[in-house]
Amino acid sequence: MRIAIGCDHAGFRLKEAVKAYLIDKGIKVIDEGTYSEDAADYPDFAKKVVQDIKENKTDFGILICGTGIGMSIAANRVKGIRAALCLFPEMARLARAHNNANVLVLPGRFLGIELAHWIVDAFLSSNFEGGRHSERIQKIERMMGD
Ligand code: RB5
Repeated sequence: MRIAIGCDHAGFRLKEAVKAYLIDKGIKVIDEGTYSEDAADYPDFAKKVVQDIKENKTDFGILICGTGIGMSIAANRVKGIRAALCLFPEMARLARAHNNANVLVLPGRFLGIELAHWIVDAFLSSNFEGGRHSERIQKIERMMGD
């Protein structure tokens, strides 16, 4: 499995922890930055991670900013991207099972490292259920002019 990960300054510390956790699990990680706690604009990193998905360089994306809200808004502007802000493992499971989310978004300022790891595990170990959920996702795609 391959994961592209990106953050702004407010997500940097959690990004480093999540990245180390993924590498430890043998997952190939593309780190799209940012690489320090110096102020950085979250849309720049959302764009890079989303581009990796569009170009099939990665299976999933993980984005982290302070609240997770800015990253969610930015990533979801791009057709084919379904970014889900998750605060609990069950939300992450449902984001995959019902929404076929391809980007997990985490709030760096509101999440401890251990809980973030559980959320990541739930996201990566869950599969899309299809069926009625596929039809709902198609309706969203049509809203984007498909
Ligand atoms: C940065 O201060 C903060 O605005 C950003 O990390 C994020 O929370 C935006 O949604």
